[in-house]
Amino acid sequence: MTILITGGTVVNATGTVLADVLVDGEKIVALLTPGTTPLGSINADKVIDATGKYVIPGGIDAHTHMQLPFGGTQASDTFETGTTAAAWGGTTSIIDFAVQKTGERVEDGLAHWHELAAGNCAIDYGFHQIIGGVDEESLKAMENLVDEGITSYKLFMAYPGVFYSDDAQILRAMQKARELGLLTMMHAENGPAIDVLAAQLAESGKTGPYFHGIARAWQMEEEATHRAIMLSDLTEAPLYIVHMSAKQAVEQVAWARDKGKNVFGETCPQYLYLSLEKQLGARSEEWGDFEGAKWVCSTPLRSEEEGHLEAMWQGLRTNDLQMVSTDHCPFCMKDQKELGKDDFRAIPNGIGSIEHRVDLLYQGVVDGRISLPRWVELISTTPARMFGLYGRKGVIQPGADADIVVYDPAGHTSIGLGEGRTHHMNMDHSAWEGFEIDGHVDVTISRGTVLIENGQYLGTKGHGRFLKRDLTQYLV
Ligand code: URP
Ligand code: ZN
Ligand code: ZN
Repeated sequence: MTILITGGTVVNATGTVLADVLVDGEKIVALLTPGTTPLGSINADKVIDATGKYVIPGGIDAHTHMQLPFGGTQASDTFETGTTAAAWGGTTSIIDFAVQKTGERVEDGLAHWHELAAGNCAIDYGFHQIIGGVDEESLKAMENLVDEGITSYKLFMAYPGVFYSDDAQILRAMQKARELGLLTMMHAENGPAIDVLAAQLAESGKTGPYFHGIARAWQMEEEATHRAIMLSDLTEAPLYIVHMSAKQAVEQVAWARDKGKNVFGETCPQYLYLSLEKQLGARSEEWGDFEGAKWVCSTPLRSEEEGHLEAMWQGLRTNDLQMVSTDHCPFCMKDQKELGKDDFRAIPNGIGSIEHRVDLLYQGVVDGRISLPRWVELISTTPARMFGLYGRKGVIQPGADADIVVYDPAGHTSIGLGEGRTHHMNMDHSAWEGFEIDGHVDVTISRGTVLIENGQYLGTKGHGRFLKRDLTQYLV
């Protein structure tokens, strides 16, 4: 099957160019200067007119949690529903987190994740490995990860008794990661101190969702971020801090980078647009206190008044932050978030956004916060470089996989669940209800197969393949 995409503006992280894009089978085979090749001489099976539209590499969401077990339940998207929603939103690859729970073998956790995903994904998928119990056995098991195509792993300084690692465990894991070339991803929040604060709040009757954000104070994120940076400095293991929301924590990353340290930061759409005041505070009276549970995630939503949201946008502009992933971890209100209706500590943590990341970041272009090439860099190119996919993914160039999105800047996307609104994630609510985007994903192509066109889903579960990833490009 050959596809010719004509008349569009190709946007890569390096800049924009007017070009027709020729796809043969699963690959991009040529970028043609418009007008120099008579289109009739190319006998394409399918022609897509992208006049007036952007042609961009498919989004790569490097932080998702399909079916994550959490707080006595599990994330509500399966690999099928979550990757289908991703395709609707212009994302053509995800990197999900395989889970090793404390007391479980890493190999078993990973094998289980392969079982969950294989044959079910609409788009390509890779894994990071969560190490939920650092000990002799799991350190040994880390030695096999690179051969398995899993070149990054995640540790948690939060969630004592669940995924938590103490400093000694982190040090040992980082030493091993340095030896193997694995990228250490860190959930940087001081979990033991947060648990004390959370218990004190709950015991004094402050049990609503708003207090989740109060217990997880920015000092807890700044402190843990600094500690992780120092441990990474000592071990010379490159460090990637996930889901950052506190401006003081981003300042720590900027400080480390200015000193030449191999430290990277990721934020998420919720920390760019949603706030403690708007979603958890001011609206709680109007909607009843528990509505705020929709926005309970960790790290938490932060205060707009204190400048955290603006600091995230600034970090993206200045490259103190390098990536935007979703941390897609959806839970329904019914039977899931509701578990914490009497105590915020029992609300499963997570927000679902996999369908909206490309759009929400494009709104940053419209609003003059980031440039077009920076948009593509944040949603596709840097994730590809960071996680060992670049060349295959993250760029529109001959030889790359034909993972392509045709994006219409004159289109419009109304996000949510109500009439005329789009939402394909397996959730009974949307954290993004009412958001209006000045742009639209018109066509999504994954390895030469059209998944979304004319408002129709044309994909199939099982099209998505497991991505064996190379080492991060940022290792020195
Ligand atoms: O609230 C969140 N982030 N839930 C998913 C688990 C994690 O910490 O990434
Ligand atoms: Zn986390
Ligand atoms: Zn996460």
